[in-house]
Amino acid sequence: MAYEEELREIFGDEKECHRMMLPYRIAIETVKTKLETLDDEMKCTFEHSPIHNIKSRVKTPESIIEKLHRKNLEVSINGLRQLTDISGVRVICRYVDDIFYVAQLLLLHDDISLVRKTNYIQYPKENGYRSLHLIVNVPVYRKEGVQLVPVEIQIRTIAMDMWASLEHDLHYKATHEVSDNINQRLKKCAEDIAATDLEMQNIYRELNSKWKQE
Ligand code: GTP
Ligand code: MG
Repeated sequence: MAYEEELREIFGDEKECHRMMLPYRIAIETVKTKLETLDDEMKCTFEHSPIHNIKSRVKTPESIIEKLHRKNLEVSINGLRQLTDISGVRVICRYVDDIFYVAQLLLLHDDISLVRKTNYIQYPKENGYRSLHLIVNVPVYRKEGVQLVPVEIQIRTIAMDMWASLEHDLHYKATHEVSDNINQRLKKCAEDIAATDLEMQNIYRELNSKWKQE
């Protein structure tokens, strides 16, 4: 197994590892509960559920060590504490407007503090990737006291998620460096998908204002 020594040094045995990762799991549950609650509230108030689906994951010990090496960070507990994406939540929304509602409502919670916001929707990545990324700190209460745990929240539409998951899959499958031609075509797909997202958003807005008048 790769990194065997480093894994044991940082994470200890299975039980110690489970205990060490517990705050990261609790932080995810806290964020998920908040998101589910705000979705419920929107459903009750506006008869519209902005969230289609929520996924989450805690980074595996192997992937934490791999990232510490990749980012040239100390391979130690101190290095691990510098990572902000050990807890990850992905929120799939229906429409583009929903992404910003959800982010705004979540950040109203007093116990959630924003560390960093990256708006890859207003400023897509060079390859066409779009999503809103938030890094937030979440308090986790344990008998030793309160610990602030960072959580990476990626918020995107169903359409943006479709592109990101296929793009990830295609790059993962590719055994060689992907050619410029393929990258350009993938970028064009992202742009077409973004245009469709906006049109679906406009259709929703138009119908919604009609429903409200009835
Ligand atoms: P990482 O080292 O991968 O965590 O990237 P980073 O710390 O520079 O942050 P960034 O916001 O660029 O990316 C964080 C996460 O967003 C990634 O781990 C992916 O889940 C997602 N992501 C970012 N860029 C892309 C992309 O081009 N394609 C896909 N499919 N996902 C992306
Ligand atoms: Mg990451």
